[in-house]
Amino acid sequence: MKRWEDDAWEKSMSIKIDFSNVIVENVGENTGLSVSEINDLGEKASQIHEQLNYEREKGKLGFYELPYRESSVKEIREVAERIRGEFKNLVVLGIGGSALGTIAIKNALENPFSDSNTTKVFVADNVDPHYFGSLLESINIEETCFLVISKSGTTAETMSQFMVVHEMIKNAGRENSISRQLIAITDPEKGCLREIALQENYTTLTIPPSVGGRFSVLSPVGLLPSAVMGIDIDEMLAGARFMDSRCSSHQLWQNPAYTLGSVYYLADTMKRQNILVFMPYSNGLYGIADWLRQLIAESLGKRKSLDGKDVFVGPTPVKSLGTTDQHSQLQLYMEGPFNKIITFFRVETFSKKVPIPNEFPDIDALNYLGGKSLNDLINAEQKATAIALAKNGRPNITISVPEINPFTIGQLFFLFEVMTVYVGALYNINPLDQPGVEESKKNTYAIMGRKGYEERAKEIKNELSGNPNFVV
Ligand code: PA5
Repeated sequence: MKRWEDDAWEKSMSIKIDFSNVIVENVGENTGLSVSEINDLGEKASQIHEQLNYEREKGKLGFYELPYRESSVKEIREVAERIRGEFKNLVVLGIGGSALGTIAIKNALENPFSDSNTTKVFVADNVDPHYFGSLLESINIEETCFLVISKSGTTAETMSQFMVVHEMIKNAGRENSISRQLIAITDPEKGCLREIALQENYTTLTIPPSVGGRFSVLSPVGLLPSAVMGIDIDEMLAGARFMDSRCSSHQLWQNPAYTLGSVYYLADTMKRQNILVFMPYSNGLYGIADWLRQLIAESLGKRKSLDGKDVFVGPTPVKSLGTTDQHSQLQLYMEGPFNKIITFFRVETFSKKVPIPNEFPDIDALNYLGGKSLNDLINAEQKATAIALAKNGRPNITISVPEINPFTIGQLFFLFEVMTVYVGALYNINPLDQPGVEESKKNTYAIMGRKGYEERAKEIKNELSGNPNFVV
């Protein structure tokens, strides 16, 4: 029996969210929310629940079904086994939603300093020439598998990296090995990557069409690299299913994603707290904060409402690391503008315990630390900061993660995805598109000379030549 099949274990791994420090009694009238203000959203939450269930049943919100695709998991495991058996390195080529989930998982579940013999996974999520060039120089091409991930199969960054690698494999005299060394994850039908993969006979896995990039972490996009890292993907999916069951209630306080989303929405619209700071007291969860930044920013930052009006909405997500950023950002959170709501993540039991020895018993400024552990210290600092912020009228939420494991990471992914589509419905915007990003992509095509974008290139040239120049 897997540990997640045991109800008692599952219950003990349930993440908890403490909202006490957003409530008016604890942070004061100016910045806090009253319970009745939150309750007033209850009816709306029930309506949205019905709407989301309807869209889920219609297959429009594909991310909800990702934890339930057993045949896909089997295929992922087989491909992962082949990669682990044949290659020393796996280099993931992808960006945005095609990379951030894997980075978050790697960050959380891989030992950062391990030098084990298993296949090493690298995620090349930028086209910085120094970074990408150095990565390619550092690996032995013959021992490396390249996993190209692009839902659209056309993204300039990923496809450029892909072409660089494709040529490298050819130049190493390994043309025959292209179909063995390249694997693609993309749309089942559309896009250049699908076309090339078919022509050149790559192993391919698919991203379901109804799953957008930033909602795809529990598809092959995040699961294949995880399986290569040796992470238990069944447990991660079990964690997501567990959260799905916790989010099945239409009642705001019974559904953690709706409670969280309601607080963020009300903080923004009633209290002008539109900066969401995500502050894990754990290096392992810092990648989750980064993944979440994209999920929130790209999903909720929108100009148009669903009825076509200009609304210009969306909270600004920020990531911060405890305790490190107590010595960098905390002063601002404590005494700066009242425009933030801070969400802490704390880990109840870390995978390691580091005791602090009582090396200098005669020095009072240090001996209080002796006999405790770094585990005690990091969690004491989180608690102390939450209390101090509340006392200063700064609302904050604490998400307690019993331990960092695939089950709790799966819960976090699913929680935030449901929260995001729920908040999208509260703002009355489409959380699944990204028209603002598309515009900059088109400008890049024009500047880089892509066929069909000649007009846009001329427009850019004219716009730039007409603009006043203030370069110093
Ligand atoms: O969430 C999204 O849709 C985006 O962030 C995409 O993941 C990102 O732009 C990369 O796109 P693609 O996977 O098509 O290469």
